Amino acid sequence: MELFLDSAVIAEVEEISSGGVLGGVTTNPTLIRRSGGDFKKTIQRIAELCPGPISAEVNSMDCDGMVSEARELKELLPDNVIIKIPCTAEGLAATTILSKEGIDVNMTLVFSVSQALLSAKAGACYVSPFIGRIDDKGEDGMKLIAEIMQAWNNDSSITCKVLAASIRSLAHVELSARLGAHAATIPTTIFHQMIKHELTDVGIEKFLADWDAVESEGRA
Ligand code: G3P
Repeated sequence: MELFLDSAVIAEVEEISSGGVLGGVTTNPTLIRRSGGDFKKTIQRIAELCPGPISAEVNSMDCDGMVSEARELKELLPDNVIIKIPCTAEGLAATTILSKEGIDVNMTLVFSVSQALLSAKAGACYVSPFIGRIDDKGEDGMKLIAEIMQAWNNDSSITCKVLAASIRSLAHVELSARLGAHAATIPTTIFHQMIKHELTDVGIEKFLADWDAVESEGRA
């Protein structure tokens, strides 16, 4: 499973990409707003820091507007920038046009197998089911990932990758990987949690103490 960062904060992209495991970055208008930065400059900088796909979202709600925004972004920004489009009828039509032009689309705000299937058939490169927001409604977001993977396994013509989004916990990441999601976009706080384990800390403490003992015995 590819590991993407769900953030538009440059310092966070720098930090997480320095670990060498970052497969891509996703942004949305909320994350751009939170970052405090200029939209295009921020995407440009992120695309320089991470060679993987960088999702930049359109803001138009009609097909023509989405298509022209997408073309403009592809013209202005580095090649690894892909276009995030909301899963609506207009978004679907825009995705069909853009995919035929070779422009990669990440279909976002996906909450059902039907929406995922339509996105794949329209030629989206990624489909982003929002796990956390389904959980927020008292339902099971992970169930949707399992159902989409099941549908994908039954249709060998589908090449669209499943990108688990709206990740809120380590369990979301781990279960997405176990269910066969192709990618997960992960907030910085969860990336930090992924590397930590209390037994690793305890183990290091013990190794360091033993090494000090070896040194003090003159055996280093
Ligand atoms: O990638 C989509 C993600 O940013 C949405 O996350 O936490 O706003 O539901 P959240």
